[in-house]
Order: sequence, then C-alpha cells, then structure tokens
Amino acid sequence: MYSIIGANGYLGSYMKKVILEDTNEGLICVDLNIPETEKEDRVRWVRCDITDRRIVDSVLEELSKYENLKIIYLAAYHNPDLVEQNKQLAWNINVTSLSYFINQADFAKEIYYPSTDSVYGESVDFYHFKEGDPLNPVNVYGHNKCAAEAILVHKGRNVVRFPFLISPSLAGKPHFYDRIVESLRNDQPFEMYEDSYRSSLSFENAARLTVTLIEKENRHPIVNVCGDKDLSKYDVGLMIAEREGFSKDLIVPINMGEIVVEGFVTKRATSTLMDNALLKQILDLDYVDIFERPKL
Ligand SMILES: NC(=O)c1ccc[n+]([C@@H]2O[C@H](COP(=O)([O-])OP(=O)(O)OC[C@H]3O[C@@H](n4cnc5c(N)ncnc54)[C@H](OP(=O)(O)O)[C@@H]3O)[C@@H](O)[C@H]2O)c1
Repeated sequence: MYSIIGANGYLGSYMKKVILEDTNEGLICVDLNIPETEKEDRVRWVRCDITDRRIVDSVLEELSKYENLKIIYLAAYHNPDLVEQNKQLAWNINVTSLSYFINQADFAKEIYYPSTDSVYGESVDFYHFKEGDPLNPVNVYGHNKCAAEAILVHKGRNVVRFPFLISPSLAGKPHFYDRIVESLRNDQPFEMYEDSYRSSLSFENAARLTVTLIEKENRHPIVNVCGDKDLSKYDVGLMIAEREGFSKDLIVPINMGEIVVEGFVTKRATSTLMDNALLKQILDLDYVDIFERPKL
C-alpha cells in the first residue's frame, strides 16, 4: 500500500498516475483539498490539513493499519516568495508539521521526501552538485528544505532532490508548462531565461524514478533525481514548442536581471546543476532525459 501526502498537487498527481501504472498497490491520497468527483479503483481520498494534529492523528491511525506502507510526503508551502513573506507559517507547515507526522509514522516501511536543488545554492562554472556536497541555500525556502531533509535523514528515512520540474498539469490547476502552451496557442511570444541553468526533469520522470527507487528498496538516504542535460528555461521552452507543434520563434530568450518575467522577488540561484551518477548507478541507467521515459 502507498500513501501520498499532498496527492492533489502537480507532483502528487503524477506520483498517483505512476503508482497506478507501474505497481499493483492500493493508494491512500491525502490532501487539504481533494477532487470532488474522482473515483478510481485502488484509490481512496482523505481530506487532511497537515497542520491540524487532531486530523493528522486520525489519518495516521488509519495508515498504521497497513503493513508495508510506503509514504511519499509532498505537502508543502513552497513558493519561495510567499515563504519569505510568511516565514513562521512556512516553517510550521514545512518543518514542524512534517516533523510531527514523520515522528508518528514509525510504523511505515518507507517514507520518501521531495527536496530540491535549492538546498545547494549557486553552481559556479557549471559545477554539478553531488549528494555529499555542503548545503548553501540562498533563500528561506532552501533553508526550510535543509531543515526538513535533516528530519528525514536523521529518522532513517529517504530524501530525493529534484530540479526544476515541468510538465502539463494533471492537478486541475495550470502549471508553468500550460502557461507557455497557452501563450503559444494564442500566437503570443513567451520570454524565458537563457542564462539560468537547471538539470530539469518532467514531473512524470521525477515520479517514475522515485517510485522505482522505492520499489527497488534503495538504501541511499539522499539521491539527486534529475536529468543529464544542463538546460536553461529558454532551452526547455524551445523543447515544449517543438513537442506541442508550435513555432519556436515565439520563445524569446532573455537574461535574468534584465526583466522580472516570472514575478520573482526573492533571491534565487542563477544556476543550480546536479550530478545524477548515483541515481543512474542505483537504477542501472545510462541516460536520463527531461521528457523521454527512462529505460528502467
Ligand atoms: N515543482 C517543482 O519543481 C519541485 C521541485 C523540487 C521539489 N518540489 C517539492 O515537491 C513537493 C510537491 O510540489 P508540487 O510542485 O507538487 O506542489 P503543489 O502542487 O503545491 O503540491 C503540494 C500539495 O500539498 C498540498 N498542501 C499544502 N498545504 C497543505 C496542508 N497544510 N495540508 C495538506 N495538504 C497541503 C497542496 O494543496 P493546495 O494546492 O490546495 O495548497 C498541494 O496539493 C513540495 O515539497 C515541493 O517543495 C517541487
């Protein structure tokens, strides 16, 4: 049995899809807001605010009845600008509530937590961070993630570090990917940074690689789960235009600092690249593409 905490979000929707496609397991999906109509065999939805201990305790009691339970804990307050503005609220959701849940869930066979490349900080000269490198986050969100990682690791649980993730949304709310497609469909240019690099990955590949790590009983506490290529957002925009059959000319390259296109307020690293050698060693992979399905 799997349980996804924060199942109704971008990544949670893909985790659910992959678990249903790649395993025969049942799934308890937990979130603050749950779909009104969704009825799928093998899936049960439970509404829960992870900051409300009374409700969390009742969810944990239900989860404790399953042997070999595998939990993927995704619920978070993670917009870096909002985290900076509401530091105490963010810490309460991202660290305090997470810690309470993890401490009460000793019965679970596995708990996986999605961290981020933001824990590493800035990549100088296209350096690719490895799992054991020192952490140097540049904003409060990154510090929340470092604190959350420490809780998981020191409880003997697992962390996967993701890069910038991008795919069409399955979550009933548009993702950045969908905004790009909408703009191209309307023949509107879309500005994207060409000087900011990430080891970007689709939500689907992030979910599939994570579920495979769980199924293979990975014993490495922290694994970078990312693509092989150093991609600027402009590169990703060109790929999306090609995949979706639109003119690439509508993707317009700009530099970070030239203009604040995505409404970024809080400091972000210009480039953060990750090394995925450990992931490829564990899963016996030669290559991880941003969109193509990995050859697992
Ligand atoms: N997206 C990326 O590029 C990326 C990269 C690295 C790591 N991550 C991490 O992956 C995780 C999931 O990210 P995502 O992109 O899927 O974000 P998301 O769409 O916001 O998913 C988070 C889910 O958690 C729910 N949630 C928030 N507060 C909650 C609460 N108090 N109680 C119960 N549920 C709550 C959200 O509900 P509402 O939407 O209703 O608030 C949402 O459904 C986060 O930990 C994030 O830091 C994401």
